[in-house]
Amino acid sequence: MSEKKKYYITTPIYYPSAKLHIGNTYTTVAADALARFKRLTGYDVMLLTGSDEHGQKIQRKAEEKGVTPKEYVDEIVAGIKDLWKMMNISYDKFIRTTDDYHEKSVQKIVEKLYEQGDIYKGSYEGWYCTPCESFWTETQLVDGKCPDCGRPVERAKEEAYFFKTSKYADRLIKYIEDHPSFIQPESRKNEMLNNFLRPGLEDLCISRTSFDWGIRAPFDEKHVIYVWIDALLNYISALGYGTENDELFKKYWPCDVHLIGKDILRFHTIYWPIILMALGIELPKQVFGHGWLLVDGGKMSKSKGNVVDPVVLINEFGTDPVRYYLLHEIPFGSDGLFNNEIFIKKINSDLANDLGNLVSRTAAMVEKYFDGVIPAPTEKEAIDDELITLAIETPKKIEKHIDNLKIPEALDEIWNLIRRSNKYIDETTPWILARDESKKARLGTVLYNLIESLRIASTLLSAFLPETSEKINKQLNIELTTWDSLFSFDGTRSGSKIEKGEVIFPRIDVDEKLEVLNKIKEEQVKATQHENIKPIKDEITIDDFDKLDLRVVKVLACEPVKKSNKLLKLKVDLAGEQRQVVSGIAKYYKPDDLIGKYVVLVANLKPVKLRGEISQGMILAAATDDDSKLFTVSIPGQLPTGSQVK
Ligand code: MSP
Repeated sequence: MSEKKKYYITTPIYYPSAKLHIGNTYTTVAADALARFKRLTGYDVMLLTGSDEHGQKIQRKAEEKGVTPKEYVDEIVAGIKDLWKMMNISYDKFIRTTDDYHEKSVQKIVEKLYEQGDIYKGSYEGWYCTPCESFWTETQLVDGKCPDCGRPVERAKEEAYFFKTSKYADRLIKYIEDHPSFIQPESRKNEMLNNFLRPGLEDLCISRTSFDWGIRAPFDEKHVIYVWIDALLNYISALGYGTENDELFKKYWPCDVHLIGKDILRFHTIYWPIILMALGIELPKQVFGHGWLLVDGGKMSKSKGNVVDPVVLINEFGTDPVRYYLLHEIPFGSDGLFNNEIFIKKINSDLANDLGNLVSRTAAMVEKYFDGVIPAPTEKEAIDDELITLAIETPKKIEKHIDNLKIPEALDEIWNLIRRSNKYIDETTPWILARDESKKARLGTVLYNLIESLRIASTLLSAFLPETSEKINKQLNIELTTWDSLFSFDGTRSGSKIEKGEVIFPRIDVDEKLEVLNKIKEEQVKATQHENIKPIKDEITIDDFDKLDLRVVKVLACEPVKKSNKLLKLKVDLAGEQRQVVSGIAKYYKPDDLIGKYVVLVANLKPVKLRGEISQGMILAAATDDDSKLFTVSIPGQLPTGSQVK
């Protein structure tokens, strides 16, 4: 017997720093559909997912909660696994970067790179984005903020080890040019070449000393390995690379597709291939960067309160409607919208009307006219041919779409067959045939054809909506669901009995459900606000408070501090006295916005120099936790300057 062909597909490993939302669920559902389809067509599939558990962000979060980083991640990873269960993700392996074998493999790999001279010691100074764990140069910043997430960055300098990525850049450019399908979609390939590789690649800083929640560098215990290097290596450590047993690596590598979101393409198409080149390992066949899932109002973010929780949707509607929306409604490769109303309307039209109705009408007719026993197809007519041809041609069309990662188009083919089958009912009018005993054989054939067409549709559907497929199979007593059986129109067993069950997708009252979802949302926003609030500091007495001297001042002039994109220099009036105050609010205000404003100054704060400028006090401001929004505390009326704030 010939050996099965292998298919290795990975998802990104998730940061256990927050609850997963519908956006990060997207990659994994898509990967699951591809994996399931490949299994159906006879491949030996390895679907890998997992969690990316190291780094400063996790360490900080754990500290805030007063638990160890491991305790912190354990709880969240359990939640991720629960969500994958709810979403019906058929992963073959779940890797945690805190797993012992992974840590050992990473150490072995970086040791090898160090010994072969690809890692060297230097020092790093740059702008650091803690949420993204990324260092940026001044020119890479966008409006002084992290180019990936748009959040504020901090200046940081540390002794560090560097990976000689520059040495491999030309080889990588050539590889990308010679392998047009390596980076997909096409537009993303040009972005990587033109924005990052061709302008010249700097060596990558791959160690940190400012925190210790990470894998220790074997060549220098003071350093932990940069979390992105640690994370990327999961794709081979999960297969046992660098351990005694690397059979899985030999079997499944090279990876057929790394499925990721477009935001992490740079790591996967530049640093990851270079690491592999340095290790002398074949590159993955493809990296596919899908688009962003947006909600009304743009990106999902906690501070905007517009995060869509997949668990709420699953609890209200079931798993498959959510899978259907993600897989069918978002063009794979581009950005797409998640909207509650469109979601519910799609359930009603595609799932309840088209698919649900076809199943229940077919089952009801077999019950009514044949006591639930599937009839034999004894009386064919020409009108059947179109349906039969379409049914047996559909699997190949879908296979082609899946090979090109065209997931929505694959589902379109299934729905073509479903809609064609509904039309076939209208064309053949079984209820009229049923009135005439002499047409019984023809009626039986029509119903057989419908069940057979549903058998093919349901088998194909098992990759995308596995639970629905199972329900259909159970109701119609479908037994034969192998790939080979989809190419001839005779896989249904006449004589077996169907078990008409509940309606698989009941129709939903759109307004009623929208209201339910809105209520849940409001409650969730309130709950997260409460959850995220920083703990109130230790109690003080009125005498402690009295030490602060807060005064109303008027801003007379304001300008940016030279060579700083964070600081503004303000001239303020305090009862006729002029003071200079330096404030880190340049990201939130243009100098002109502040002139003439009455704001609150901590007037008895010891003066300090910031970037060479004296600052005589501090302007009070209120900011969100992630510093995405900030407002100075201002006085709405025109009080005399120098008035006390108490
Ligand atoms: N830990 C890294 C991946 C390391 S892989 C070696 C990471 N994790 S993540 O949890 O932040 O993101 C996981 C995946 O979710 C990424 O592919 C990311 O692009 C995707 N998405 C996060 N928000 C998204 C949307 N709103 N829409 C679509 N995908 C998005 O990155």
